[in-house]
Amino acid sequence: MGFKGGCVVNSIIYSIKNHRSIRNYLEKDIPEEVLQEILEAANAMPTSINGQQISIVVIKDKSKKEKIAEWTGGQPWISQAPVFLVFVADFYKAYIACEKNGSHQIIHESIEGSLVGAVDAGLAMGAAIISAESLGLGIVPIGAVRRNPQEMIDLLGLPQYTYPLVGLVIGYPADASAQKPRFPLETLVHVEEYQKDKIAPAIDEYDTIMSKYYSERGDKDTNWSKQVANAYKQVYFPDVYPTMKKQGFLNDK
Ligand SMILES: Cc1cc2nc3c(=O)[nH]c(=O)nc-3n(C[C@H](O)[C@H](O)[C@H](O)COP(=O)(O)O)c2cc1C
Repeated sequence: MGFKGGCVVNSIIYSIKNHRSIRNYLEKDIPEEVLQEILEAANAMPTSINGQQISIVVIKDKSKKEKIAEWTGGQPWISQAPVFLVFVADFYKAYIACEKNGSHQIIHESIEGSLVGAVDAGLAMGAAIISAESLGLGIVPIGAVRRNPQEMIDLLGLPQYTYPLVGLVIGYPADASAQKPRFPLETLVHVEEYQKDKIAPAIDEYDTIMSKYYSERGDKDTNWSKQVANAYKQVYFPDVYPTMKKQGFLNDK
């Protein structure tokens, strides 16, 4: 099986394949009808059992965005851009549905519940990203909303059985950043079964590509595996587990 694309590309796929995260934004508001389209696209995504266990909090208030920029470890693009969306795993709606029907919800106490919430939020964020980029906007996802999760929970007034999973900065790009190379498709896609032997050599090859990418941007002594090794030698957001438990996501079933 070869991996040759190109012949069926339409404007949606072209726009998706042109993705790059943007960390420099113009001071320009997003028209309300444009934001509405992005949110409706997110709402059109599939969800597990049609449970729709997701909420999106729209933040435009400058002082709130400044606080979030600080809590996420100093990410100025959050306050610079006009809109910040927070994708929330939301089992509060399902809890009300259970109560309404005289049953007692426990799915939020299981790892399965957490996975369902994360997958659904990821799909919704993906649709928001694709829509925003197709309309000429730039984005960058912000996983670091989980760096100080209790502050986020309090700021957004999140009830029990909800959790802030990921943020999304949206605005008009001040400049187009370079596209970051990916692993070749042969490493992403495994035909019929996982091709374990391909992984180590593919990492060597990708390290060479990424070493060039980083050194062209002034970072001479790094590559993909060094970056990942540095990130994953610790649990970088240690407050996630206790705050998830506090919100009812026990993760013990
Ligand atoms: C779930 C998720 C969380 C992320 N969190 C952050 C973040 O907190 N700050 C940031 O600057 N970029 C963040 N990113 C952006 C990634 O660093 C970026 O997507 C990756 O380096 C690939 O670069 P590209 O998006 O330009 O292709 C996040 C991306 C994802 C998907």
